[in-house]
Amino acid sequence: MAEIGKDIHRAKQLLTEGQLVAIPTETVYGLAANALNDKAVLEIFKAKSRPHFDPLIVHVASLAQAETLSSSFPEKAKALAQKFWPGPLTLLVPKKETVPDIVTSGLNTVGLRCPDHVLTLQLLQSLSFPLAAPSANPFGYVSPTTPQHVNEQLGDKVAYILDGGECRVGIESTIVGFENEQGMVLRLGGLAIENLEAFTGPLHVQLHSNSNPHAPGQLQSHYAPGKKIILGTQAQLRAYTHLHAGTIMFQHALPGVAPNQQIILSPGGDLEEAAQHLFAALRTLDKTAIDVILAELVPEHGLGRAINDRLRRAAY
Ligand code: TXA
Ligand code: MG
Repeated sequence: MAEIGKDIHRAKQLLTEGQLVAIPTETVYGLAANALNDKAVLEIFKAKSRPHFDPLIVHVASLAQAETLSSSFPEKAKALAQKFWPGPLTLLVPKKETVPDIVTSGLNTVGLRCPDHVLTLQLLQSLSFPLAAPSANPFGYVSPTTPQHVNEQLGDKVAYILDGGECRVGIESTIVGFENEQGMVLRLGGLAIENLEAFTGPLHVQLHSNSNPHAPGQLQSHYAPGKKIILGTQAQLRAYTHLHAGTIMFQHALPGVAPNQQIILSPGGDLEEAAQHLFAALRTLDKTAIDVILAELVPEHGLGRAINDRLRRAAY
C-alpha cells in the first residue's frame, strides 16, 4: 500500500526523482509524473496497463506555463483558458518539441489543463516541470475520487498519494479540441457544455467511437466496473427488480429493491451532487454481493449529459 499524506514537499521530491505520485484534482485523482521525463512517463503507462496509443493530459500551474508547451496556442483556446482555468477543462493545442512523443502518443497536439485543487496547484507552482497525469485507475476501470480508491487499485505502484480529500466535481474534465480555429467538444465532462457555449457560442460535439479512438476516453467500453449494468428510467428498471440487484438512482429509491442495496446520488435532484457521487457508487456496488447494477439515467442537461455518457460507457 502507498504512503498517503498532505506533504507537498514529499510529493515534489519524489516527482523530481522521476517517481509516480497520485495527485488530487477537482475532477478525479491523477497518476502523475514529470511530463518532460520519458522514463517517468513510461512508468505511468506500465502502472495503469494503459495502451501507448492513448495520450496523457499534461497539468500546468497557469496559462503562462501552458503556452511554453505549445508551438502556437490558438486564440480561442487562450480565451477559454482565461475564462475557465483553473477548472475541469482540457484544451488540445499544437505541441512543442519539448513535449515527449510518449506523452501525446505521437500526435502533434497536447492536452493541457490547469486543475482547480489547492494542493495540486501549490505542487505545480513549486515544480520546474509540468505533470503528465491520466486518471489514477487501471485502464478501462472507473476513475478514483478518493485517496482510498487509488490505494485499493494502484497502491503498490505509486510512491505517494497526495491526500486532497474527496474530489469536488467527480467526473473527468471536458475536452475541447480545435480544427481550423473551430472549437469542438471531444469528451463530455465536469464543465457543462451550456457553460462553455454561453461563452463560445454553439460548439460541435464529436464523441469518438471504438472505430476511431481519437480520444480513447471515448472508447465505447470505458469507465466500466466488473458487474453487469442495466440502464433505464425508473419505469424501465422496475422490470428487473426480480434479479439480485443493487441500484444507482438519481433522486428516489427504486420500489421493489431492498433500501440497503440502493445508492441515491442526490435526494435533492442536483446534477452536480450526482456527478460527485457517481464513481464512488459504481465502486461500492461493484464490491457488493449482487448480480447486476440497475442504474437510472438522469436528465440530459448540465452535468447530466456527462453522467449519462459515463453510465452508457460503463454499461456497454
Ligand atoms: O479530469 C481529467 O481530465 C483527469 C484529471 C486527472 O485531470 N484526467 C483524465 O485523464 O481523465 P485520462 O488520461 O484518463 O483521460 C484523458 C483523455 C484520454 O481519453 C485521451 O485519449 C485524451 O484525453 N487525450 C489526451 N491528449 C490528447 C490528444 N493530444 N488528442 C486527443 N485526445 C487526447
Ligand atoms: Mg481515465
